[in-house]
Amino acid sequence: MVAEDSDTPHAPWRRRAEGGDRCVQPSLRSDVRAAVPDAAAGFGVTAAVFAVLWFRMRSGTSATTAVMPFMADPGTFWMYLLSQAFGWSALLWSWGTVMLGLLLSGPGPGRLPVSRRTLERWHRTTSLTTMALMAAHALLFAAELVRYETRLGWAARLWSAFADTFVPGWYDSGTGRTAIPIGQGALYLAIPLGLLFYVRHRFGATAWRRLHRLTVAVYALGVWHTLLYGTSVWYGEWPRTVLWLLQLPVAALLLVRLLRPARRGERPAPPGPGRPRPGRTARRAVRAGGLVAAAAAAAGILAAAATGHDGGRTRPPAPPAGPQPAPTAPHVHEPG
Ligand code: HEM
Repeated sequence: MVAEDSDTPHAPWRRRAEGGDRCVQPSLRSDVRAAVPDAAAGFGVTAAVFAVLWFRMRSGTSATTAVMPFMADPGTFWMYLLSQAFGWSALLWSWGTVMLGLLLSGPGPGRLPVSRRTLERWHRTTSLTTMALMAAHALLFAAELVRYETRLGWAARLWSAFADTFVPGWYDSGTGRTAIPIGQGALYLAIPLGLLFYVRHRFGATAWRRLHRLTVAVYALGVWHTLLYGTSVWYGEWPRTVLWLLQLPVAALLLVRLLRPARRGERPAPPGPGRPRPGRTARRAVRAGGLVAAAAAAAGILAAAATGHDGGRTRPPAPPAGPQPAPTAPHVHEPG
């Protein structure tokens, strides 16, 4: 999830060292250092979301508690809440970094009061922060499972929590059988796709750029995972509508990026005679497919938000006062 590479005229981070010809390119180390303020903001947003989720659970208005009534105690389930909060900041940061990437590889900063180089730096730092937030989300879910599985010995607890969280196909209950591998797919693809940027010279900028385009699909996996499994957006209520609507700018910018790519080589050749470029038909087909997919996504998002047919479930009536159902596991929530 880092900036498009630049053998382009923009030459993003291609900065001539003073008085010399050497190109100064960002390294992973320099970007990690530059990402510190951004990561601090990510953790701050996580803390704010955590506070909201805690308050809602304590006040009895939490959708998570409506899905899993035994979870009505935020003091016990604080790690679960923190995992959810990291999930939201991870999704927000991936939204931001994907928007920045599409801006850079499409229309560019335009009238925005920031330079292209600044946008590129933000794209790289927000991408690193996204990876950290995603990892924290998964790790806290694993930690909650370790805390919860008191019936098992320590080794079995650690193994079961690790496998349920990180081994694709291991988790074997309800919606999680589909939703967890989708989240794992997003996590496992986002990390190499982001970090390969720093070693792209080993396999070529063109190959890297092609791989890097997959990040839009990785982002879509994160959104899909959330819509399927997030209990805060489980019901067809306004938080779910907002989540759908937030995807509209991504689809719109993807359309603009495909119509007005920054790289000259990606623009459709002007009509008229000329030497046919190799692979032009295949490129045209891919581009047309991308345009149709982005337009369909934008139309689908609008339709889901406008009609309310957005995959949300119906909230059940409040449970009667008295003893609540016995806890099964903090992560077992079935479609209601
Ligand atoms: C190993 C990978 C992952 C695992 C095991 C995992 C696990 C989970 C679980 C169990 C939930 C349900 C929590 C609830 O009750 O709401 C959840 C929700 C969520 N996940 Fe993930 N996830 C993974 C990857 C991701 C990634 C990569 C993203 C972000 C792009 C993400 C974002 C979210 C969000 C936003 C929610 C909704 C939280 C809420 O409803 O409050 N997850 N995840």
